[in-house]
Amino acid sequence: MFDLLVKGGTLPDGTVADIGIRGDRIAAVGKLEAEAARVIDATGDLVSPPFVDPHFHMDATLSYGLPRVNASGTLLEGIALWGELREIATVEEMVERALRYCDWAVSMGLLAIRTHVDTTPDHLRGVEAMLEVKRRVAPYLDLQLVAFPQDGLYRTKTGRQNLLRALDMGCDVVGGIPHFERTMEEGAESLRDLARIAAERGLMWDVHCDETDDPMSRHVETMAREVTRHGLGGRAAGSHLTSMHSMDNYYVSKLLPLIAESGMTAIPNPLINITLQGRHDSYPKRRGLTRVKEMQALGIPVGWGQDCVLDPWYSLGTADMLDVAFMGLHVAQMTHPLEMARCFTMVTETNAQIMGLPDYGLHPGCLASLVVLDAGTPVEALRLRPDRLAVVSKGRLVASRQRNDARMRLAGRPETLRRRLN
Ligand code: FE2
Repeated sequence: MFDLLVKGGTLPDGTVADIGIRGDRIAAVGKLEAEAARVIDATGDLVSPPFVDPHFHMDATLSYGLPRVNASGTLLEGIALWGELREIATVEEMVERALRYCDWAVSMGLLAIRTHVDTTPDHLRGVEAMLEVKRRVAPYLDLQLVAFPQDGLYRTKTGRQNLLRALDMGCDVVGGIPHFERTMEEGAESLRDLARIAAERGLMWDVHCDETDDPMSRHVETMAREVTRHGLGGRAAGSHLTSMHSMDNYYVSKLLPLIAESGMTAIPNPLINITLQGRHDSYPKRRGLTRVKEMQALGIPVGWGQDCVLDPWYSLGTADMLDVAFMGLHVAQMTHPLEMARCFTMVTETNAQIMGLPDYGLHPGCLASLVVLDAGTPVEALRLRPDRLAVVSKGRLVASRQRNDARMRLAGRPETLRRRLN
């Protein structure tokens, strides 16, 4: 007897299987005959482990237009705008906006999010708010909080001290933003400092690294060195890495093996980087996405991150990781069938690996979290970005919707077409 049985779905690898759930765990996968208290018929639908977002800014989300819109569309104006907003936003407002976003996320089958939380202001209201949100959504949505010194570790008087305070308050991951420190030297020093902090506290490390069009921004080299020095390996992630787009090819041929050697992972954010980067270019205009396929060819785990939804940096967004993967697929030209399928894996399994999520997947013993999509295969899911028919989190059905089965019945259509539509 199962508590919940998901019948007849197609798994991402193409196998058709039933998934039996007891409590918050997957109890069995295969052809299952046992009874269940509740059954979800997923015949013909794709059943996937949940979507995972390893890079987001939940303290800023759903604030688009506050205090005004980003007129230049640049990263730097976004940072300046956020600097004003964080001084007037209350804890309650940030909690309310974040919870609203969490509802969107769950409805899209997005059940784990790593969010960077700005630790620059002495009041640390963003940290307080996000800790509260994390506590409230914990039964159905896993949040990891990154202590993120948005204005630089050293660029403000209390930047370093506030990052440490945020970690003491309960943030899970050490952040960083070396390209925003005053000089390349101070950027490099911040990386050495932050790697030590992560190693000493046994924490993960996720750095906004080289989010710039400057081909000479070389912080990822230093980051990889520090990851190797401290043996952080897959506990460390380089976010954005956009300068790599503009770097000299010879230099990249030296850099990529160093990144691979370190074991660190990479999180490009295609929706954001395609809109923020290249703003100082005329034509040709650079895409500002890091070298995704080249990193993957060397075995470096690369995920896709969402980064922003309706905030000072990005005026759109839906919490749909398929939108993120769809954009990434286009910008990185990952159009081979295997590459398209990999884009789906990037927003599920690879992102889960990057976040170090335990018990993730569709195997017996894993947490019973999954999403049923109105599509047949991962590639079709990318093409359609279809409805999420059911979302199960830790054994509980947390979101569902009716299948959209609109039919067209138009006079004068060829018989063959009409038969197919019927
Ligand atoms: Fe970011």
